[in-house]
Amino acid sequence: MSTSPFTIRIAASSDACGVSDLLKTSYGELLAGHYELALLARALPLISRANPALLNSGRYFVAHDGENRIVGCGGWSLDRPGTGELEGGLAHVRHFATHPSWVRRGVAKALLLRCIRDADAHGARAIEAFSTLAAVDFYAALGFEVIQETKVELTPGLAFPSVRMRRSISSA
Ligand SMILES: CC(C)(COP(=O)(O)OP(=O)(O)OC[C@H]1O[C@@H](n2cnc3c(N)ncnc32)[C@H](O)[C@@H]1OP(=O)(O)O)[C@@H](O)C(=O)NCCC(=O)NCCS
Repeated sequence: MSTSPFTIRIAASSDACGVSDLLKTSYGELLAGHYELALLARALPLISRANPALLNSGRYFVAHDGENRIVGCGGWSLDRPGTGELEGGLAHVRHFATHPSWVRRGVAKALLLRCIRDADAHGARAIEAFSTLAAVDFYAALGFEVIQETKVELTPGLAFPSVRMRRSISSA
């Protein structure tokens, strides 16, 4: 477990491998107690690939340690993941993960607050997340409320239990 500080920066396309590695390690380890292992084994290859469009959007961030290793990632978009639908004033949380050695050090909180500030500056009035079953307490601690328990269809026949959550964004 590290106690070193971390730094947040906007992600670039050159972060694709680092982000994919982080998603694999984080999801593989931290989701294991929350999903059936057979389901997780099928889902992991689909959910732990860095999304190039998101990575290049200027709305995706990485947290790195003093040796430039990516220890956290996360971003936001105006389009709803999966459908691409736009709804005025609504932003969406995208692909959040913290390295297992860095959890509970405020990495994801710092990334999420950065996203919320950004989304606010772009006129968003609320932000939604399709939370994994592992991240509900994290989003709740950051002011999100549960809208509904749902299943995200990752591919035909593969439904991934998730929780749709939302918080308002109030600009000062
Ligand atoms: C969910 C996740 C991103 C949180 O990352 P993190 O960097 O550990 O979160 P933070 O340290 O910023 O936590 C901020 C607050 O959220 C709450 N929180 C975070 N993780 C929690 C957990 N596992 N259980 C209960 N509360 C939690 C706490 O209130 C925490 O503050 P505290 O540590 O002072 O009590 C991380 O556990 C993770 O990567 N999980 C696996 C991937 C995943 O589910 N991603 C979400 C995709 S929707």
